[in-house]
Amino acid sequence: MESLTAHSKIWFLVASAKDLPAGARRPVRVAGKRLVVFRAETGEVSALDDRCPHRGVSLSGGQVTGNTLVCPYHGLRFDGQGECKKMPCSVTPGEESSYKKIRAYAAIEADASIWVNLSDSPQPFCSAWPQLDASYRHFEQVNLVRARVPEILENFVDCGHTGFVHAGLFRGEPNREVDVTVRRQNWDVWIETLGEKDTSGIMMKMLNPDKEPMVHVDRFLPPFAIRVDYRAGNYHMVSTSICLPHEEFLTTIFTRIYLNAGVVTLPYLKIVEHMTHKILQQDKVILEDQASNLKEDPTFKSQFLKTDRPVTTVLKAYKDFLESKDGPSDVLTHAFRMKI
Ligand code: FES
Ligand SMILES: [Fe+2]
Repeated sequence: MESLTAHSKIWFLVASAKDLPAGARRPVRVAGKRLVVFRAETGEVSALDDRCPHRGVSLSGGQVTGNTLVCPYHGLRFDGQGECKKMPCSVTPGEESSYKKIRAYAAIEADASIWVNLSDSPQPFCSAWPQLDASYRHFEQVNLVRARVPEILENFVDCGHTGFVHAGLFRGEPNREVDVTVRRQNWDVWIETLGEKDTSGIMMKMLNPDKEPMVHVDRFLPPFAIRVDYRAGNYHMVSTSICLPHEEFLTTIFTRIYLNAGVVTLPYLKIVEHMTHKILQQDKVILEDQASNLKEDPTFKSQFLKTDRPVTTVLKAYKDFLESKDGPSDVLTHAFRMKI
């Protein structure tokens, strides 16, 4: 997890902004580190190590007062920079100002999410959420999965499982050949799937009622996000999932689905929300089963198929990103056919 915590480009999505109202605090484990994120009564968001320097109690068990977090043990107060602002028992004027600081991390609020960078020199923030106009409506779902980030990223660009894990809901038994093009440039990967007209799952029936040729593009947004676009006729659905690794085998997935379906956008969104919940639960069951096998035998190596090219390309780009190893500067393209 060290390659994550020291990485200056990684802004971890640690919470939805609505789950951290003014005056709230919450513990969050980020790539193995125990942090507390809190929002001052005046609105600013901060992130600190979740351990009081006095006697080691978790600050997340305390309360927010003004712009400080108050330790629940002896009431020491710390601000968002980790500086001690009050020592209730002290009779020495100014003792706070020379007291040990808590490590503070860069924290911002953007696109209704709270993001934290754990490195010493954070690179500029860039949101992984799609930037779409007001004709799109969206919902957000949050899922805790006992699995690792690489296998979760794999799952999101893996068309081959959908007809089995989500049979009836989202696709069915593979029966139609499609053209897939995988492109990679540096750490970006995008995968275009053309020719899908299948409407054997409820989701596809709704989104593509006239069986128009569908344009389906998956994108890897390094290091933790996958964006999936489906376009057919006048419908456009964008599903983005962003991972937060708590520990190696424990990950929260924040998923937002944006939909633009003209006048039926809102009623359709309600149905898609219900189905997305089911689909993500089905993926969770498979991912947790896979993770328990990988944990038990760390020497296991996946034997990939020719049709796994999207998966293997994303895995390589993810690894290169974490190692800050440049990928191809020109666009590398690989095209193949598969059944979905
Ligand atoms: S342990 Fe935090 S104030 Fe004593
Ligand atoms: Fe899935």
